[in-house]
Amino acid sequence: MKILLTGGAGYIGSHTAIELMSSGYEVVIVDNLRNSKASTVDRVAEISGQSPTFYQKDVADYVAMDTVFKQEQPDAVIHFAGLKAVNESVADPLLYYQLNLLTSMSLCRTMADNNVTNLVFSSSATVYGKPERLPLDENCDATKATNPYGRTKIIIEQMLRDLCDAKPKFNVVLLRYFNPAGAHPSARLGEDPNGIPNNLVPFLTQVAVGMRDELVINGDDYPTKDGTCVRDYIHVQDLAKGHVAAIRKLQSNCRLVAYNLGTGTGHSVKEVVAAFELATNQHLPRSIGPRRVGDVPTSYTDPSLAKRELGWKAGLTIDDICRDAWRWQNENPDGYP
Ligand code: UD1
Repeated sequence: MKILLTGGAGYIGSHTAIELMSSGYEVVIVDNLRNSKASTVDRVAEISGQSPTFYQKDVADYVAMDTVFKQEQPDAVIHFAGLKAVNESVADPLLYYQLNLLTSMSLCRTMADNNVTNLVFSSSATVYGKPERLPLDENCDATKATNPYGRTKIIIEQMLRDLCDAKPKFNVVLLRYFNPAGAHPSARLGEDPNGIPNNLVPFLTQVAVGMRDELVINGDDYPTKDGTCVRDYIHVQDLAKGHVAAIRKLQSNCRLVAYNLGTGTGHSVKEVVAAFELATNQHLPRSIGPRRVGDVPTSYTDPSLAKRELGWKAGLTIDDICRDAWRWQNENPDGYP
């Protein structure tokens, strides 16, 4: 079976490409390299011992994508391509609506016109906004995001639901990721953010390697075990395996289904810092700063639906995440070449 990955040179896409190839799938990567580098694809080939087919194309370019689909005739698509920085989406909402929505609409049009009707979509736990109950399960209201980035995910989920209603041949799996972190155990693949990282783990790795002076913990007066926010950090390797399970699910004519991908365990910011200090064997300078606008105190999933229906469960811990994230940063202080 051949799987086309949009955004396959990105952080989650590249790890998933390796997992798919090691499970016997052929992989085609389409990426415009806006937020990624071509050397990532070389490293995917180096680790897996097979070269994925790579097209540097814009997924929103219907003509270019139609040519790729006619050439490759994929059996399924995993749609990773999109912008994902919450702050940037608040500052420039039109960029997010334009890029994320047009890309997804155009991709669906290309798929429908080429009779490719199996899709896995990269969604996010951000669609739940402030949790109505904990742990979050897939029946929680998934229309409550608190920022434009999250609202693009909600709109795309809704568009895919309408598409499945209109065209019964379509099968779609929505994967709502909790907090992806960590890196490939080879230390050849990892997260390579542009500029100052927004997310906790890449920020910590940059403090540890000396690129940043200290971590500012955004608030220690939340109603949580130690006052800092609690999140469900999931190792990118576990997440990659979740995509392989979702591809298998598509083959059962599932219509449209959504799964939360997380571990089911929440860790506070202070606990992550402690785990990271253990992994790096060094003290990390930190201070307490103000709360970050839009942060919710606690978020973690009930992972049981994914276990029951996908046969998937996260196997790695926060210690594995910190160890692998650190090895990646330490061996690649400037990210990808
Ligand atoms: C954010 C996005 C989410 C996205 C995810 C990707 C929201 C509100 N947030 O999640 O959509 O899918 O990133 O991984 O939609 N923190 C610090 N100092 C820092 C950075 C972070 O204390 O320098 C704290 C934050 O306040 C938060 C925790 O660390 O409590 C995790 O933050 P982050 O890694 O940015 O993830 P989220 O905000 O949970």
